Amino acid sequence: MKKVIDLRSDTITHPTPEMREAMYRAELGDDGWGDDPTVNRLQELAAERLGKEAALLVPSGTMGNLVSILSQAERGTEIILGDRSHTFTTESGGVSAVGGIHVWALPNDRFGRLDPAQVEAAIRPSGNVHYPRTALICLENTHNRCSGAVLSPEYISTIAALGRRAGVPLHLDGARVFNAAVALEMDPVELVRPFASVTFCLSKGLCCPIGSLICGSAEFIARARFWRQMVGGGMRQAGIIAAAGIVALESMIDRLAEDHEHARMLAEGLAHLPGLTLDLEPIQTNIVIMQVQAMSGEEFAGRLEAEGIRVSRMGPNLVRMVTHYGITRSDMQEAVRAAARILAE
Ligand SMILES: Cc1ncc(COP(=O)(O)O)c(C=O)c1O
Repeated sequence: MKKVIDLRSDTITHPTPEMREAMYRAELGDDGWGDDPTVNRLQELAAERLGKEAALLVPSGTMGNLVSILSQAERGTEIILGDRSHTFTTESGGVSAVGGIHVWALPNDRFGRLDPAQVEAAIRPSGNVHYPRTALICLENTHNRCSGAVLSPEYISTIAALGRRAGVPLHLDGARVFNAAVALEMDPVELVRPFASVTFCLSKGLCCPIGSLICGSAEFIARARFWRQMVGGGMRQAGIIAAAGIVALESMIDRLAEDHEHARMLAEGLAHLPGLTLDLEPIQTNIVIMQVQAMSGEEFAGRLEAEGIRVSRMGPNLVRMVTHYGITRSDMQEAVRAAARILAE
């Protein structure tokens, strides 16, 4: 039977044999009472990996961002984020619907950046009753809709400095922050130092079945625990999930470099094909986004599927391919060959 090459997302990965073994053997307790030793160990490890005081396990990245924002922006305040950020585009408007928080979405450039001058201008001056208070600036690293582009530490420092001057803290949607650290070859602790809060996902390139972590100060995490409970994210014997997370943090980070290499191979192969346009520069990690000219994105995706290559669509003519654990160099060659055949027809 022909192998299906599933490039829809890095979330389609299954737990590794080592993770399944760890899940089977996990020591458990009721995390609602703070009694699950495996959850506690994962939270300590996550905090340590990101150089923060404390961490909290939540079921998803969406909940991680929601809880982080609710914990720092009260009802009627405003947050600044990117118009292509996951929180703005794909989290069901949760911060506004659940939190009553006003959103100011600034344009993301092709590298997922916000223009510092625009951020500065968007921070509301205090003392005017017509303005909501700016409570938070949110960045995303790596940037999903901007082809997995990486925000550099220099760029982050610029935004952090203007936030600091105005007394506005930063939140990072770091769903794939370890991809960013690996691409930059830098310690994630340094990369996230300017952020008051960080969400990262275990369930993407790191291969876990479920789970994200929020990291920040002990005081922030205490508030986040309250909001996690309110949105129904408190769990019981969650050590089953946490056990896989510990394996991920201990052994799955360095291999992300392989996913990046595969994505680069794929992107360079596809860029030569007539009928596709790829902006190669922002493709710095495991996400390859292309614009399809030769036919509709729907038709291209459907014809790839018929060839055993599964992809996702990001817009009418935008197709996304994401590399992950289990994907090989020959899969990349096969994907390029299949795309070439379809476009030549
Ligand atoms: C950048 C980013 N943030 C947040 C999320 C949400 O994560 P989850 O699907 O676990 O809710 C995703 C999911 O793809 C993402 O790409």
